[in-house]
Amino acid sequence: MRLFVAIQLSDELKTALINAQNAMYDRGVRGNYSPEENLHLTLAFIGDCPDARPVLDALSTVRFWPFEIVTDGLGCFGDLWWAGVRESAALTAAARRVRRALAENGIPFDRKRFSPHITLIRKASKDAAGAGIEPVCMTVEAISLMRSDRGRSGMIYTELGRVEAAQP
Ligand code: 2AM
Repeated sequence: MRLFVAIQLSDELKTALINAQNAMYDRGVRGNYSPEENLHLTLAFIGDCPDARPVLDALSTVRFWPFEIVTDGLGCFGDLWWAGVRESAALTAAARRVRRALAENGIPFDRKRFSPHITLIRKASKDAAGAGIEPVCMTVEAISLMRSDRGRSGMIYTELGRVEAAQP
């Protein structure tokens, strides 16, 4: 099964992301828009893994306190358009702790530098410049282990478990 570790988003943040997608659509951008239920912020991509149990055990060792994230404009990697998330010490630390826990437990993951983004559209037909996103804040209270499966009409993401923030 294909696994990744991610932050699930609040309804308010998802609404802002959907508004941004609508603005892109109104500008004539066509492509594979991420459905609302698939919007997330990845902290670590594990990929194929035979057993989720050791990953859940590793994730359960991650300690963090509630922290805020804020949307920060739109950007792209080629024809993949995303909403950025403002770099913050707490977010970077959370990603680092997750990755360290995976490494210490011998779980391979993609070591590409953490670049916080929320994918809005893949295979965009054209540049989405001109569309924007308002800054929306949410408090992160949990980090989730997600499973990714290819469904008939796109990817299906399922939460397998989560680690809750410690109470301050
Ligand atoms: P993306 O949205 O930029 O494609 C599930 O695939 C999640 O893991 C997505 O958020 C995806 O980011 C991220 N991810 C990171 N590295 C990946 C990789 N090498 N292959 C597939 N997804 C990856």
